[in-house]
Amino acid sequence: MMDSRFEHVLAIETSCDDTSIAIVRSDGYVVSCLTANQDLVHQPFGGVVPEIASRNHTLQILPLLDEVLKKTNWSWQQIDGIAVTNRPGLIGSLLVGVVTAKTLALIYSKPFVGINHQEAHLIAPFLFDQETGQSGVQFPYLALTVSGGHTQLFDVRGIGEYQMLGRTVDDAAGEALDKFGKVLGLGFPGGAKVDAMAKLGDSSRYDFPITMKDSQNLNFSFSGLKSAAVRMVESLNKSELENEKYNLCASFQEAVVSSLMLKLEAAQKRTGYENIVITGGVCANSRLRELALKWARKNGLKLFMPSLKYCTDNAAMVGLIGAWRLRRGERSDQRLAPSASSLKNDFYLNLSGLDERL
Ligand code: KG4
Ligand code: ZN
Repeated sequence: MMDSRFEHVLAIETSCDDTSIAIVRSDGYVVSCLTANQDLVHQPFGGVVPEIASRNHTLQILPLLDEVLKKTNWSWQQIDGIAVTNRPGLIGSLLVGVVTAKTLALIYSKPFVGINHQEAHLIAPFLFDQETGQSGVQFPYLALTVSGGHTQLFDVRGIGEYQMLGRTVDDAAGEALDKFGKVLGLGFPGGAKVDAMAKLGDSSRYDFPITMKDSQNLNFSFSGLKSAAVRMVESLNKSELENEKYNLCASFQEAVVSSLMLKLEAAQKRTGYENIVITGGVCANSRLRELALKWARKNGLKLFMPSLKYCTDNAAMVGLIGAWRLRRGERSDQRLAPSASSLKNDFYLNLSGLDERL
């Protein structure tokens, strides 16, 4: 039985280094979503420092909440429930969101629910606002989530019905791009800079390996590629590197993107799905978008790539799956705890099929 009381949900996302608060309607309409990113704070360290991330969440979260309520001119009376990411992620970061959600639920007597961050990414294409309009996506679909923390393929059949088809066995694609960018001295996160520099380079200049190319499964691997690229960079002197950096970026990016497309295409053949979703920060990559669009057009597939604000970590996606779960009667209570990994009985943790193919 659907409980249609849950029309508007306030959502909190703090699983990594982005603090995000949103108000979302249960049909996917985003009333408001504000995200405070911490890129500048972590930049000197070349990666996210967990302790610094959680400290910044504590500084940012309440002002951000005030800002969302002020901007929308909404009161707590108009909010029907609360959703919060409580897994997987950095434990200190998650804790800030979870404690905030539990406190708000107690103060304002609102039902609330803990959400799996990865599930939230999967349903992001249903989000829309005045700017984006509705995407028209429908279940079932094949989803590739590709970001600094994730590289996974899912068979998405409906709410709560997901099967993981493949995943990275080591680094995430974004993580590999960021590490490569760091070696080239491009700062953190380097993915977008690699993308920009690749446009000026020749992708056939270096023959980087496409790992797992010949494997029968749908898993990815980026650490071999990353090591090969780092070795190549280290073998060049300063002036060679200066001359070659555009070609290196183009060749490295081509290998990452080819590996993503290879497994996406194989997964599409296996599932036969016409609806394809690509989401996560790396979805901003211009070469990935170009190849995916070309492939979809050629094969008569419907490709959905949520606009970047809903691709990267955001509370709107948490609010939407939260609304759907609250409507289904799911509730968390004050014992809700953060968890660094997905839970044993989580939605996609039926890994037996996956393990057989490893
Ligand atoms: O989804 P996201 O904001 O955060 C998580 O990691 O969950 O994704 C961030 C990742 C970073 O690795 C960043 O370098 C990468 O997305 N990224 C890109 C581009 N823009 C962001 N990678 C390649 N090309 C881009 N244009
Ligand atoms: Zn994420």
